[in-house]
Amino acid sequence: MSKIIIFDTTLRDGEQSPGASLDPNEKLQIARQLSTLNVDVMEAGFPITSEGDFKSVSNIAKEIRDVSICALARAVDKDIDCAAKALKAAKAPRIHVFLATSEIHRKFKLIKAKEEIIKTAVKGVKRARKHVDDVEFSPEDASRTEPDFLVEVVEAVIAAGAATVNIPDTVGYAVPEQYASLIKYLKDNVKNIDNAVISVHCHNDLGLAVANSLAAVKAGATQVECTVNGIGERAGNASLEEIVMALKTRKDFFGHTTRIRTKEIIATSKIVSGLTGLQIQRNKAIVGENAFAHESGVHQDGVLKERTTYEIMRPEEIGLPRTKIVLGKLSGRHAFKKHVKALGYDLPDEELEHTFQQFKILADKKKEIYDQDIEALIQDEKSETTHVYELDSLSINCGPVPTASVRLRVGKDEILDDSTKGDGPIDAIFKTIDLLTGIKGTLLDYSVRAVTSGKDALGEASVEVEVKGNSYRGRAVSTDTIEASAKAYLNAINKVAVKHRRK
Ligand code: KIV
Ligand code: ZN
Repeated sequence: MSKIIIFDTTLRDGEQSPGASLDPNEKLQIARQLSTLNVDVMEAGFPITSEGDFKSVSNIAKEIRDVSICALARAVDKDIDCAAKALKAAKAPRIHVFLATSEIHRKFKLIKAKEEIIKTAVKGVKRARKHVDDVEFSPEDASRTEPDFLVEVVEAVIAAGAATVNIPDTVGYAVPEQYASLIKYLKDNVKNIDNAVISVHCHNDLGLAVANSLAAVKAGATQVECTVNGIGERAGNASLEEIVMALKTRKDFFGHTTRIRTKEIIATSKIVSGLTGLQIQRNKAIVGENAFAHESGVHQDGVLKERTTYEIMRPEEIGLPRTKIVLGKLSGRHAFKKHVKALGYDLPDEELEHTFQQFKILADKKKEIYDQDIEALIQDEKSETTHVYELDSLSINCGPVPTASVRLRVGKDEILDDSTKGDGPIDAIFKTIDLLTGIKGTLLDYSVRAVTSGKDALGEASVEVEVKGNSYRGRAVSTDTIEASAKAYLNAINKVAVKHRRK
């Protein structure tokens, strides 16, 4: 039974999800969890695109030693050299060079003839090979490229030294049978195909990314590129957890395994969702809240009699604890720490202590604390990255002209306070924060949801704010939804402030 290589691109293609930008510290936190999850390759970023991305890749390359670290580059010298520089400290560096090959891209985007495309691709791979041994090449929009031309490109880049050839379905256009036939066609027609790993990279525009990837595996691909929670450009990429659990659950059909520690799936999914601010739909396969919930009486009865009647996977396999131990006001530090561990989190002492303090504050306001409450506090702790402004206090007057008074703390000593009117209390708070910070955000998205049921439930607020053409997400929890909203907005504004400071 051969192993399928899991190439995670959460930190590169996943981060291309609208509104999901991550700072280098957040990327490092996700990278640590991806290493615990045991992915084979981690695409850490696209270094030429920004200083932040360069820094993220080099930080990850320095710290994560047990996973191959990959950086993306166009088939352009300065991109490739920049990727190599960012990967300098990596133990197992990989440079991923890409160049579009389809007629549409050649004609309208690149204005290059076929011969020139092959020449540029080969030159790119050779240049990357001067820096590292492990080079991957992607003919972008491969699934819409003429198959015969694709054969020529793939053969040429393998001859030039690419150890992996990735066949992207860049625009999510393929359907399973057709995509599988393309992989088979390459296997049958590229003379030197056995010298390289065939990889697949599918987008989800038609909701087929996972199906296409699995069909390709059946046809002989041995690397799958995917992202946690399926996040990514437009409708996203193939979801890592769905690919891994499909291979595991249907080992009888696929005949392959992966190295993934599936018990880390839930923790990884939560960290990615918490830090990107991209919430997981309730009925999402594997990691959605309803994925293991049985609502119908007939199903519940069946599961109680014999679990396998309606469950094809055990929740424990992906790290979902079956027991919902409820903590309360009297629970001590020890019980709390044990519980955090049972939920699958391994927090450094300082974060654990701070989360415990937050838990005590919450327990004063809320009688019973559920798993989801604790997870929400952990996510809050994790999204607490470097900040410039901290909410000190907040009060609102909801009268005929809603007015918010906000006090912000800057560092240890400085206090800023002001009040402003708004169209409603939330509008007034956000406007006051704009006024105090001097950063004017346009609200693109705002939502509040209860983390658990009950009137005393924790409220989780998420915002997406646009500042100077870039979008930033913020998230926060509190038993007071107005406070959660203010903190979530401030969380997003802090990301802008930190970026400005760095500049
Ligand atoms: O979707 C795509 O084609 C890509 C390439 C850069 C691999 O993300
Ligand atoms: Zn992609």
